[in-house]
Amino acid sequence: MGGLMKTLTWLTDVHLNFLSKDEQQRFYKRIKDENPDGVLITGDIAEATNISDILLGMANVVNRPIYFILGNHDYYHGSVHAVRNKMLEFTDSNNLLNWLPQSGPQRLNENTVLVGQDGWADGRLGNYRDTPVMLNDSRLIEELFKEAILGRYPLLDKMQSLADDDANALKANIKDALKLKPKKILIATHVPPFKEACLYEGKISGDDFLPFFGAKVMGDVVSEFATQYQDISFVVFCGHTHHQAHYQPMDNLIVKVGAAEYYYPEIQEVVQL
Ligand SMILES: [Fe+2]
Repeated sequence: MGGLMKTLTWLTDVHLNFLSKDEQQRFYKRIKDENPDGVLITGDIAEATNISDILLGMANVVNRPIYFILGNHDYYHGSVHAVRNKMLEFTDSNNLLNWLPQSGPQRLNENTVLVGQDGWADGRLGNYRDTPVMLNDSRLIEELFKEAILGRYPLLDKMQSLADDDANALKANIKDALKLKPKKILIATHVPPFKEACLYEGKISGDDFLPFFGAKVMGDVVSEFATQYQDISFVVFCGHTHHQAHYQPMDNLIVKVGAAEYYYPEIQEVVQL
């Protein structure tokens, strides 16, 4: 299936834990009705306590390969470590559910390869030192909570180590993808990699929010590859801010951020491959 795909239905920040079982089923049927070759989800699917059941429920109805990465909310009321262990099991035991950090680069057709890493805000955009903002991440995700009670800089260190690990993993994924000689590399990640892609009411988010809305380290990785491989087109799909953005920093690099609203999951785009 993977080698012949023509379309991928892209979802982001659907937060399906907020829906009733009936509403979830109706949303899965809408996806199925698009008749996509595959589904791409760029995180914030649900929360730690229900992400597994929700992914299985979606796979049962949609019955197509689902390629996904996780967002910060997918770890809420749990730990990064435990949720990731579950995703490893899934990817190994279910032939439709592919957590991209575990499944590695996916060749979708002759020209296009898909890679993905969850990604974390890294506090390097905006003004972390002076921001009064505090996200629920540091209350509801075990690893971040443990550091946040020690202070804002231990929290920053943890945010950055999560972000940097995922950026390094993405670098390795893109290197592997290049071996497949693609014309196009699709990159799925949760947090926008450039501040120009972190919008709020049509403008770049303020310096108080940017430390939690952007992943500068991911932007550095994708820019480096796009500079080095100018004959390959790189398209980044992400979410997190819930505000749509389309940012093209280079001729061969486009960043798409999806729009989202709690309780009203939408199909972002049927991506033509
Ligand atoms: Fe998010």
